[in-house]
Amino acid sequence: MDPSRDNPLIRFTAFWWGIGVISLFFVVLLLTRMVVGGGEGSDPLEEAAAKNRQKVREAVDTAQAAAFETKVVTEGETVQLHPEHVFDYVGKQLVDGAPTKVEDPAQVVPNSPTAIEIANAPAAGDPAAVDALTPPADTEIDPAVIEKGKQAFMVCMACHGMDGKGVPNVGPPLAGSEWVTGPVSNLIRIQMRGLEGPIEVAGQKLTFLAPMAPMGAASSDEDVAAVLTYIRNSFGNTAPPVLVEQVKMLRSEVGKPMLKQEDLIAPEK
Ligand code: HEC
Repeated sequence: MDPSRDNPLIRFTAFWWGIGVISLFFVVLLLTRMVVGGGEGSDPLEEAAAKNRQKVREAVDTAQAAAFETKVVTEGETVQLHPEHVFDYVGKQLVDGAPTKVEDPAQVVPNSPTAIEIANAPAAGDPAAVDALTPPADTEIDPAVIEKGKQAFMVCMACHGMDGKGVPNVGPPLAGSEWVTGPVSNLIRIQMRGLEGPIEVAGQKLTFLAPMAPMGAASSDEDVAAVLTYIRNSFGNTAPPVLVEQVKMLRSEVGKPMLKQEDLIAPEK
């Protein structure tokens, strides 16, 4: 056996050597910091450069804010939205929204009133059956529905603009969009599943920083029908209303993968 293991003197010396090496390490570390760090914040050149960077940053921020300014007016309150804040704003609206009852067939109790209601619903989930229910073009539109839709549009406004003309890189125009006045099933499915990838709107192929979230998943059937009726009859658009019944029929789309343009029924141009 190695005699040093049992020799108290050797062990004692090794202990102090250890302490010595560690202390030396800290002394070297301290010296290095003093030399390299040069006393933080005291370099006049660095300070001048930082001031300059801050000035440039402020100028850029002001210019961007002026270029992209979007105002959202909610009751008595004006919210100034910079593009950086659009997603926060929309996220908050989504989180604040009341949760909606989910009718996932797997979660519905067999033979319960809900199960019977779903079974009797006219062709639930079938876009063609939904479009077939669209009322004729001269159908009068209830002003109360438009008013409700206008309120619900507050959250869309952040991306599609107050005037429905769109926001560059954030959301496409709804004004003059053939999707908005086209098949209703497209509009409802976009609300339930969201939309991603490039999309052609009014002859322009557009791409965006982020896809459209499934906004309708957290809204009532009434609110979805009202907001869609509103966009179909605002910003110069005219089209028959969207019925609550039609929205209900496509509620089962919630939770399915996000849509792409090719998943939609091509609208007439
Ligand atoms: C977070 C931003 C955002 C919000 C909020 C938003 N959208 Fe969108 N919307 C988009 C984007 C982005 C697209 C295009 C998606 C793609 O294909 O890349 C789009 C596409 C659409 C389209 C189809 C294209 C068109 O221009 O006609 C409709 C219709 C639409 N949105 C309606 C709505 C409605 C109604 C609301 C509110 C309930 C809403 N959106 C809220 C970002 C948003």
